[in-house]
Amino acid sequence: MKKQILRIASCLLISSTILLACNKDDNNMPVGSELYQRLGGNAGITKVVDDGVAIVVADPQLAPYFAITIQSQERVDALKANIVDLLGQTVGGPEVYTGLSMKAAHVGMGIEDDDFTQFLVDFTQALQDNGVSPEDQATIGAALESFRVDIVE
Ligand code: HEM
Repeated sequence: MKKQILRIASCLLISSTILLACNKDDNNMPVGSELYQRLGGNAGITKVVDDGVAIVVADPQLAPYFAITIQSQERVDALKANIVDLLGQTVGGPEVYTGLSMKAAHVGMGIEDDDFTQFLVDFTQALQDNGVSPEDQATIGAALESFRVDIVE
């Protein structure tokens, strides 16, 4: 009986340690820092974001949303810097995103489901253009997908 209780207790201890470890990974490194390295770190992500923003603002479906933004290079640069931080942080890099929440940043823009999907298509194109593997494209796509609920109105 005593042995059985000990066995159950050690099982519980092991399970909760595993659960805690998983939780920690989820909170600190949502997708993993190996992905950050494969993307080429901050320089690689900056290149993807440069290309992605260029594709998005030239996309006839999305361009109207950025009509005011593209009038100021400073504003475009600030947007890119924020997206680099957000993406870097999302893939487990050392970047710290300090911009607005996704809800606050997009509130009142009237962004529709189709627009969000198109934004992901354009950014995936930028990932592909920069040699990111289909597996990593899918991982990043899934991470960005989680913002849909806060951005679409
Ligand atoms: C995963 C999807 C998206 C991400 C990660 C994202 C990220 C961001 C970030 C980080 C900012 C800057 C927030 C700040 O200034 O503090 C921003 C602003 C903005 N986003 Fe998004 N966004 C997404 C989707 C979209 C979509 C679908 C549209 C429109 C079709 C859009 C339009 C804008 C506009 C117009 C701004 C303001 C830019 C400015 O300051 O002039 N975003 N977004």
